[in-house]
Amino acid sequence: MKALVIGRTGQVATEILRRAAAHGIAAEALARPEIDLADPTSCAEAVRTAAADVVINAAAYTAVDRAESEPELAQAINAEAPGAMARAAAERGIPFLHVSTDYVFDGSGHEPWATGDATGPLGVYGATKLDGERQVAAAGGPHVILRTSWVFSAHGGNFVKTMLRLAESRDRLTIVADQIGGPTPAADIAEALLTLAKAGPSAPGGLFHFSGQPDASWAGFAREIFAQAGRSVAVEDIPTTAYPTPAARPLNSRLDCSRIAETHGIARPDWRAGLAAVLAELGAT
Ligand SMILES: NC(=O)c1ccc[n+]([C@@H]2O[C@H](COP(=O)([O-])OP(=O)(O)OC[C@H]3O[C@@H](n4cnc5c(N)ncnc54)[C@H](OP(=O)(O)O)[C@@H]3O)[C@@H](O)[C@H]2O)c1
Repeated sequence: MKALVIGRTGQVATEILRRAAAHGIAAEALARPEIDLADPTSCAEAVRTAAADVVINAAAYTAVDRAESEPELAQAINAEAPGAMARAAAERGIPFLHVSTDYVFDGSGHEPWATGDATGPLGVYGATKLDGERQVAAAGGPHVILRTSWVFSAHGGNFVKTMLRLAESRDRLTIVADQIGGPTPAADIAEALLTLAKAGPSAPGGLFHFSGQPDASWAGFAREIFAQAGRSVAVEDIPTTAYPTPAARPLNSRLDCSRIAETHGIARPDWRAGLAAVLAELGAT
């Protein structure tokens, strides 16, 4: 099976490209400079002409705060380009696998969000990702939309690497403790996507939730990072209101991941094991 992977250097794309061969999938990456998601038409043309049995879109405009001041660019990359590529894939009858986010929800309540729950993004990033979901689904071809959360890996920018950097100069940090979600290793997202890719166009598709467990706060996540990395940094809980950001974040990012478990046997991974692997790769333990 041949997979066209949109993105090369991102957290999820890197892990897909590392792991595809082990699944018997020959993966070809298409990314900048060959294509620019800000130009949806050329991206669709690339999907139309690629030798591929499946397309996996692992690229996105992920700068949540910057998106507030670049809404048109975020919309092109997160919504118009996935829509155009999904329509091109649908014309060919090949599945389009797309990654989305917990930020499509408004973060109210304390229950895990089910795939059928009402959305209500709080910022531009979430709104553009939600429109991307709508456009991918509306393309009418076989597709998967995998919503995930709090992604981390040994590459790219993420919370784990930020905490390790801060630990170099600080012995005490204040971290938000009232946002709750599932930290998710990019490696496990890649494994899930490759498993879904292998399932083929007639397997159950549509919307899935997938995040690591157990759910945690950012402060709890930070404590586990410092514990596993053997850094003595004291973490003090603060509320979101004490850490203002240009884009509002959902307080409740818990995802109900039962549908992917029931239809594809893909269970929530324990993110603490994924963290150990990432810290080992970074030489931080
Ligand atoms: N990070 C998270 O915490 C998180 C949480 C929930 C969901 N997600 C979703 O998970 C998916 C993967 O996220 P990630 O963390 O792996 O992202 P990432 O590490 O931030 O990487 C984003 C990738 O998108 C590419 N990209 C951005 N703009 C582009 C453009 N105009 N043309 C072509 N490529 C472009 C980047 O390429 P360059 O290297 O060229 O910049 C980069 O490779 C995304 O759909 C994201 O929305 C992420």
